[in-house]
Formats: sequence, C-alpha cells, structure tokens
Amino acid sequence: MLRTHTCGELRLDQVNQEVTLAGWVQRVRNKGGLIWVDLRDRYGLTQLIFEEESTEKSVIEKAASLGREFVVQATGKVIERTAKNDKIPTGDIEIKVSKLEVLNAAKIPPFIIEDETDGGDELRMKYRYLDLRRNVVREKLQLRHRMMQETRKYMDAQDFIEVETPVLIKSTPEGARDFVVPSRVNPGEFYALPQSPQTFKQLLMVSGFDRYFQIVKCFRDEDLRADRQPEFTQIDCEMAFVNQEDILSTFEGLTKHLFREVKKVELEEVKRMTYADAMKYYGNDKPDLRFDMKFVELNELVKGKGFPIFDDAELVIGICAKGAAEYTRKQLDALTDWVKRPQIGAKGLVYAKYNPDGTIKSTVDKFYSAEDLKGWADAFGAEPGDLMLLLSGDANTVRKQLSELRLKMGEELGLRDRNIFKPLWVVDFPLLEWDEETKRFHAMHHPFTSPKREDIPLLETDPGAVRANAYDLVINGVEIGGGSIRIHDRGTQQLMFSHLGFTPEEAQKQFGFLMEAFEYGAPPHGGIAFGFDRLCAIFGGSDSIRDYIAFPKNNSGRDVMIDSPSTIADDQLEELSIRVSLKK
Ligand code: AMO
Repeated sequence: MLRTHTCGELRLDQVNQEVTLAGWVQRVRNKGGLIWVDLRDRYGLTQLIFEEESTEKSVIEKAASLGREFVVQATGKVIERTAKNDKIPTGDIEIKVSKLEVLNAAKIPPFIIEDETDGGDELRMKYRYLDLRRNVVREKLQLRHRMMQETRKYMDAQDFIEVETPVLIKSTPEGARDFVVPSRVNPGEFYALPQSPQTFKQLLMVSGFDRYFQIVKCFRDEDLRADRQPEFTQIDCEMAFVNQEDILSTFEGLTKHLFREVKKVELEEVKRMTYADAMKYYGNDKPDLRFDMKFVELNELVKGKGFPIFDDAELVIGICAKGAAEYTRKQLDALTDWVKRPQIGAKGLVYAKYNPDGTIKSTVDKFYSAEDLKGWADAFGAEPGDLMLLLSGDANTVRKQLSELRLKMGEELGLRDRNIFKPLWVVDFPLLEWDEETKRFHAMHHPFTSPKREDIPLLETDPGAVRANAYDLVINGVEIGGGSIRIHDRGTQQLMFSHLGFTPEEAQKQFGFLMEAFEYGAPPHGGIAFGFDRLCAIFGGSDSIRDYIAFPKNNSGRDVMIDSPSTIADDQLEELSIRVSLKK
C-alpha cells in the first residue's frame, strides 16, 4: 500500500509514530519558513507541516510547489499540534513531513473542492468526478450505499431471492415512453429498456421463486423533475401466496428496518388512508402528514348569501392555518398572487382572520355576517389566532389548487421539518383513470393490477368506480413506492386488456407470453417497487434525487460530463438499418 494510515484516522495516541499518508492537497499555506498542507482523502483531512529549519531543502521546495488537488504521498512523524482544531477529528495532531512524493500533479480545479464551493450547478455536473471529491456530495452516496446494504440484509433475512432480469426487453405499457434500442441483427426491430421488471417478476412467481427482489435500474422517457430521472433505481419486489395485508406488513418492515439501521429513527406505525379520503381531505394522492390542515368543505355554509363567486362554484373548500391570523396584509396579498399564478390557476383567495380578540374579519364581510363567519370557524375548528383560507371552483381543480396552497402554508409555517418522518399507505386506488386526450380509460397503476373482487361487476357499468388492490407508500408527501395484487388468470387479464382498449390480437401480440404463463399454474401474487433514489433523498433530507445518483442527468436529460445523448456515425446508423430524418 502507498500509505500506512488514512487521512481521517490519526489521533494523539499515534504521536511519535512514523506514518505515510496519501491523498489530495486541499490547501497550502506558506508562511515563509513554515508550510502547512491540508491533505484529504475519503476518510478525512490531516494537516502536514514542513519546517524550513529542520526539513531537507528538497522536501521544502516540493511542498512549496504543491497546488490544489495534487496527489501526494507524505511520510513523517505524528506530532501534537500547538494550535488545535476542534472542528475535525484529526485536529489534535499534524504530520511533520520528512519525505514527500508528488504522485500526480493537477490542473487548477474549475471550482473549489470544499464543502462550500464556488462552482455552479452546470460546472459541477460537467466535472462531476471532482464534485464527488467533496464531503457533502460523497456522504450522500455513502448513505445510498448503506441503504443498499441494509435493504439486501433485510430482504435476504426474509428469504427473498435477488434475481437479475433482462435490460433489453420489449415495451411494457406503464404510463411513460420507452427508451428503445435498435437491433443490428434484426433489422428494423427494436428492444425497449424496461420501465420496470414488472412482467418478469410475475413470471418468476409462476416459476415458483415465491419471494423475489432486485435493486434494479429502470428507464422512463418522461419529462424531468426534481424527483424524476430518466434512469433511476427501484427496490423491486414480488411475493407469491400473499394478500395485500402481507405485502404491506413485509414492506412496512423493510421501511422500519432502514429507518432504524440507517437513520437511527424508530418509525411509528405506518398509517393507512384510502385514495378517496386522501383526495377529499388533502386534494392529493400523496398527502404530507407532517402537518394537519385538512380540507373543510363549506358549500352548505357559504352558498345562498349573495356572494356570486361562491354561489356559482361547484365546491367551496378551505384550510385553517393555525396561528397565522397575524399574517399582514402584504403577506396575504402575496398569497393571493401566489394562488393566481398560472401554475396554480386559482381565480382568487378568500380569507378570514380569527383575531385574538375573538372577532373574525374576512375579505367577504359584505356578504357574510359575524354569525356566518363564526359558523365557518366552527366548521374549521378554528381558534382565535387562526387564519382560514378558502378557494372555490370546479371540484377537482379546486382540490388540486388547495393542495398546493396547503403545502405552501405548511412550508411557510415551518411545519415540514425534514427530520420528522410521516409514512402513509394510500390504499384502494381506482383501477382505471379516464384520459381526456385519448378518450379512453388507462390503468392507473398498470394493466396487471387486480380489481377488488366486489367491484368487478362495475367494470361493465361504471369502470371509473372500480377500485384496485393497489397501494402506494408515501413519506412526507413523496410517493416512495407503489404496488398491487396482480391478476393471475388469463380470463381476468384478457378482460382487463379489453377494458383498456386492446383488441384480443393486440393483447396477444404484446402480452401473450404472460397470459400463456398464467395457464401453467400461476400462484396468486403481488408486489411493490420502491423508488430507491427517492428513498435516499428522503433519508438525506433533500428534495432532489440527483444528489443521490453518482452520475445523474441534468434537467434536459443530458449527461454534460460525457456529453450524451450524442449523434452517431452514418455507418453506425446504416448498420442498424436506421434512416434519420430530423424534424427541427
Ligand atoms: P411505479 O411506476 O409506481 O411502479 O414505480 C415505483 C416507484 O418508482 C419511483 N419512480 C421514479 N423515481 C425516480 N425517477 C422516476 N422517473 C421514477 N418513476 C417512478 C417512484 C415510484 O413509486 N412495476 C411497478 C411496481 C409494482 O407494481 O410492483 C412500478 O414500477 O418512487
């Protein structure tokens, strides 16, 4: 080895020992007769000291020539520091260097490689390998590593078998677009990269694997957001001979295990909520339960009093922000502007302040008496000091808008603490979702999800009302995972495809292999997939999953470091039988 110790391990105990360290030069301070060098590696930082009086001239000269990020090997004696640094674990000692080897020189880095950096986002992405030298960035990947190890530990202990499924497959309709790969040896034909290993894990159940998992890359050609990358990782799982309850408890177990082992947090019981309630009370299928602020429907209290906006609205609905009556006029105007932005799209905001003196002042006092307003306060369970915020309009739209406002108020009032974790199972999702654009139903989760047995007759009469045996795990308002109990017989699967608008031929062509497998003894089965990057980001207290991926794509899906995607040579295209005509 080129070193006897790492840069994070030496303490007073090692004083007088001769050691050799290797690492990167973080900083050089040259005070004439004395040179200090901070040497960094993955484990920490150790100070090297070079004293002109007592060190060989050639060593001093080498030290003086060091620049940031040079890779060096230094041998010397551990000594106690006179000026100690209590901010770092090695701060009591330094190395009095007698031998210095420059293992590799370095160009001046494009940004400062320290916790506080001057590098912008784009620059750090271009030099991601340098960004990864920074503690704050590396620690996120170390967290990811821990999560991965603990996941494997738990799954193995629960008798799950890790099986790799293929990456070159054919498309499964799971909502997003596929990335496709041309096949050279099959001209004009394409593989698709998996959006998830869904059909393969179901086939493994038919094979009798009983409990499968895989930490697996998935690919989806969809628009990017902070919590979405075109390639991302799932903890993908499937179990045979189980019902929904078994799956929820097994994966509640995994979630608790990870929190306990990685975050040292004892997670509370994971609450349950139906999709219908989540939409009714939070306007959202992934409610953030770190704070309450439930929706209150007010139609009965507000209609018929002469206020045309409320009278004409399908739904008048509001939230009560505890303690926010002290919001100033300016703050309330800002909130009103905020809900009116096109991203939210509300027409306006009605508010009522429940003043500490017991009076209630609203923006619509002209239409509502003090008694009316007291009725509102009672409906909200409001107390003096609280602020009631009301929106109105078409029911679905206004619920979405109020959901955004609720999250904003939660943020403004400091109720979304990153160190508090509120997990939730959202259950009883609808099986189908109407798509206005294509004028047909889509599978809300995916076409392999089983309807609730008692709702099957509704498939013919009211497809939108059919509930699925499907569930999501939500933590702090983030969809961390989703899964379902699957269809496991050919008849039901065919019925499902026909409701999704597949002709029998199309269903056969795309999924004949799965339906045939169901005819050879398919056990009842179900599963779930966790978004691993999202889980890591929640653990790390971040909104962006990018930080938890070693080499992520930017907002336009580009890897700016390797400059991809990129064009390919004409002869390569020809070999793949692809003719490209670019529409610009
Ligand atoms: P689903 O499509 O809900 O289910 O995906 C499971 C979880 O994967 C995460 N996720 C993403 N993370 C980052 N970037 C993305 N683009 C992205 N898309 C999804 C989410 C999500 O909850 N085969 C089914 C699972 C099953 O039924 O067992 C599936 O893939 O956290």
